[in-house]
Amino acid sequence: MKITVIGTGYVGLVSGTCLAEVGNDVLCLDLDAKKINTLNQGGIPIHEPGLEAMVKRNVEAGRLRFTTSIEESVAHGAIQFIAVGTPPDEDGSADLQYVVSAARNIGKYMTEYKVIVDKSTVPVGTADKVRAAIQEELDSRSVKLDFSVASNPEFLKEGAAVEDFMRPDRIVVGTDDDRATQAMRTLYAPFQRNHERVIVMDIKSAELTKYAANAMLATRISFMNELANLAEKMGADIEHVRQGIGSDPRIGYHFLYPGCGYGGSCFPKDVQALQRTAREYGSDLKILEAVESANDHQKTVLLDKITARLGKDLSGKHFAVWGLAFKPNTDDMREAPSRVLIEGLWQRGATVTAYDPVAMEETTRIYGDDPRLKLANNQMEALAGADALVIVTEWQVFRSPDFSAIKAALKSPAIFDGRNLYEPATVRSAGMEYFPIGRK
Ligand SMILES: NC(=O)c1ccc[n+]([C@@H]2O[C@H](COP(=O)([O-])OP(=O)(O)OC[C@H]3O[C@@H](n4cnc5c(N)ncnc54)[C@H](O)[C@@H]3O)[C@@H](O)[C@H]2O)c1
Repeated sequence: MKITVIGTGYVGLVSGTCLAEVGNDVLCLDLDAKKINTLNQGGIPIHEPGLEAMVKRNVEAGRLRFTTSIEESVAHGAIQFIAVGTPPDEDGSADLQYVVSAARNIGKYMTEYKVIVDKSTVPVGTADKVRAAIQEELDSRSVKLDFSVASNPEFLKEGAAVEDFMRPDRIVVGTDDDRATQAMRTLYAPFQRNHERVIVMDIKSAELTKYAANAMLATRISFMNELANLAEKMGADIEHVRQGIGSDPRIGYHFLYPGCGYGGSCFPKDVQALQRTAREYGSDLKILEAVESANDHQKTVLLDKITARLGKDLSGKHFAVWGLAFKPNTDDMREAPSRVLIEGLWQRGATVTAYDPVAMEETTRIYGDDPRLKLANNQMEALAGADALVIVTEWQVFRSPDFSAIKAALKSPAIFDGRNLYEPATVRSAGMEYFPIGRK
């Protein structure tokens, strides 16, 4: 099938590449010429395991191309995926300007029937706005053309995006006409040979499903974070509690890890956007308000532990920070807890040397050459001259370190661990102070 993907970011690039991998002819559009140039020169603008090789393979096979030409992209795909960003507006609602502008561009240039699919995370009712924008453009050209609009929210996880797209748990499709349903079923047939994974529903339910999923996951995290803080005060151990409740099949083990808060490009903005949409409909999602404020608080928990131990004034102190990305296996630092920590340390007069296996370039893009931040070439180098170590992202490579080498490198050997990577007894028996989240 001929597919166009509009927006070549995390979702667009992964979706386009995976669709090419199963034999489709895919053209990815982005208005960011730098991104498209990088891709056309064989580079890759994001870090995502397995993606680079898959892009290369499909480009070489002629099934995957990249362009900045709107006209070319509209002409190409019988299915046009909209996968542009939907960042939060000032009031927390999803900013739909990129989605609507992508839809307008389709209306401006289309000359035959197309299925337009919203893959971006968009509030309930967006498909109607997309339809209206396309229709307005067709009307202004006095052109009469049939088209379908569908919703196909994306559930991939950064860091495991290729795997998630190739082997999805479910493929949610919202449509209100048979032609679009058929097109989507055909497109996704190669991804569900083992059993049916396409769940077809009406468009509004599909749009809401994506927000509901992210809001539920964010709720589980904030719930565990609050319990962890309580466990710590009571002298209980949240790790035992996690196993004790996770073993109940109605609860399960996923997304019950306490830590220093969730970040990324999705949970924070989607939790806000869903609250905002609910308010428009006269509903108040009280649980999500609490989830958001619990998370804002949790992002400061590491700093609170540091100041409780070392004092509020951290002038002259120096910290090693392991992990900058909002989660492992990605270089994405949008809303990352590391940023709240680093900026909080700076405010109290401290300086930082940080290391992340892949997010160093992104850190430089965000903080430039701020003299309060140095970047180390590896995790052990980051420790040199530091008072204490702070762990913010649970990269595999941090899981089994040489504790005696850490102790030797730190001035006042202490680990503030925002991801509970170690057994407290192991760190303490190595002669260090250990400050995890919610553990004895
Ligand atoms: N990142 C994730 O893990 C993830 C997962 C599921 C869903 N989503 C949702 O998918 C959407 C995209 O997210 P992302 O992380 O890929 O965003 P992103 O910022 O990485 O990429 C968006 C891209 O769209 C481009 N763009 C904007 N307007 C355009 C236009 N009119 N025409 C062509 N290109 C245009 C931008 O230049 C950018 O490259 C969002 O709604 C997000 O909430 C993201």
